[in-house]
Amino acid sequence: MKILVVGKGGREHTFVWKIAQSSKVSQVFATPGNPGMSRHAKCVDIGVDDTEGLAAFAESEGIDLTIIGPEDPLANGIVDRFRERGLGVIGPNQKAAQIEADKDFAMALMHKYGIPTGWFETFTDPQAARDCVSRRGIPIVLKASGLAAGKGAIVCQTEEEALDAIDEVMVKRVFGSAGDKMVVMEFLDGEEASIFGFTDGEHMVCLAPSQDHKPIFDGDNGPNTGGMGAYSPAPVVTQERYDEIFEKVMVPTVKALASEGRPYSGILYGGLIFTDDGPKVIEFNCRLGDPEAQAVLPLLKTDLVDIFTAINDGTLADLQVETEDRAATCVVLSSGGYPGDYETGVPITGIDDAEGLEDVVVFHAGTAERDGALITDGGRVLGVTGIGDDIASAIKKAYEAVEKIDFEGAYCRKDIGQKALVRLGA
Ligand code: AMP
Ligand code: GLY
Repeated sequence: MKILVVGKGGREHTFVWKIAQSSKVSQVFATPGNPGMSRHAKCVDIGVDDTEGLAAFAESEGIDLTIIGPEDPLANGIVDRFRERGLGVIGPNQKAAQIEADKDFAMALMHKYGIPTGWFETFTDPQAARDCVSRRGIPIVLKASGLAAGKGAIVCQTEEEALDAIDEVMVKRVFGSAGDKMVVMEFLDGEEASIFGFTDGEHMVCLAPSQDHKPIFDGDNGPNTGGMGAYSPAPVVTQERYDEIFEKVMVPTVKALASEGRPYSGILYGGLIFTDDGPKVIEFNCRLGDPEAQAVLPLLKTDLVDIFTAINDGTLADLQVETEDRAATCVVLSSGGYPGDYETGVPITGIDDAEGLEDVVVFHAGTAERDGALITDGGRVLGVTGIGDDIASAIKKAYEAVEKIDFEGAYCRKDIGQKALVRLGA
């Protein structure tokens, strides 16, 4: 088979790395890809938003399946365009992808179908949003309803922060039209986890639970980022909680979408928080998490291409999906200054040494090549994954590998996975 992966980040490198291991695959392509992906795939410079260019490429190359990594093309309807041309593609269509692209829609769907989440109210008028904040009180969470590159959720501990956030999103329009509607949501208190469900619309299989680390600094301090590290499995998700999420959140959400005339296939990302009242959804995404993918997919025993083929053919019920009984931890190395301003073009060394260690994989995110040398080209630069028999050894492995990599200004959190160790009493 010929497979195309659309995207250029760490999540897409993980897809490419995993797909290249499949005996079913003759060639892997990535658009636009990155230097890490080019070791396993042919990278072709077509942007993720160039739907026509991507479809024409898939057609002319005879690609059997195209995997869409990021949310923007899904929200823009790339899957609909591919299907119109009879091309095999993995991801939800445009109407189903609104579960991520329109947070007001997602919250209303959950409330209509009794999927556990917090209260919410949605506003198009800034003054009405301000009134809601004073009426409800703090802490409170404000979310731009549209896609805002992972930065649209603002957790406000003071009324002043909330009023500032309304001003930024609804008046100054820092996220553009994503701020046309503002969702005001209950602050949910508890530990978070991510669950990924693969579905063909009828049947669902969930992978091992994982946990992201969103804030930039240790101890979950500082501004939110795209994610500074992840590990899997996440012990906060006990077997009992996992079963509860499967039955009360993941499966009912796919059914609810079908009832609304938006049949969902592809990967559904449940972002959960474990409150004193049980698990509640803070958000859904229409794709795999990044950097959670870099911790979850390395543990997948089943051929990922078999899973994608089953999703495309609607035969997921016939497939047994297995995960290795091990653990993985991904530590993100970012450019100094991220998530604020940062430099790019900084030379990177030591990746070969890091990958020389057993059970280590280095996934590229913001990297580029200049005169044959590897340089930084983004905020999150690399995802360094260590695998071990348990979380403690996976963490140790990941940081051992991180030590070998160097670029000026390189930063990482030092506490990835610590919540798991505390929970396990390790
Ligand atoms: P999101 O962009 O929706 O993933 O939100 C980013 C982060 O904001 C999440 O990982 C949570 O830490 C936090 N967050 C979002 N919604 C809520 C909520 N309702 N209650 C508490 N924290 C939240
Ligand atoms: N890791 C968070 C996300 O992918 O949205």
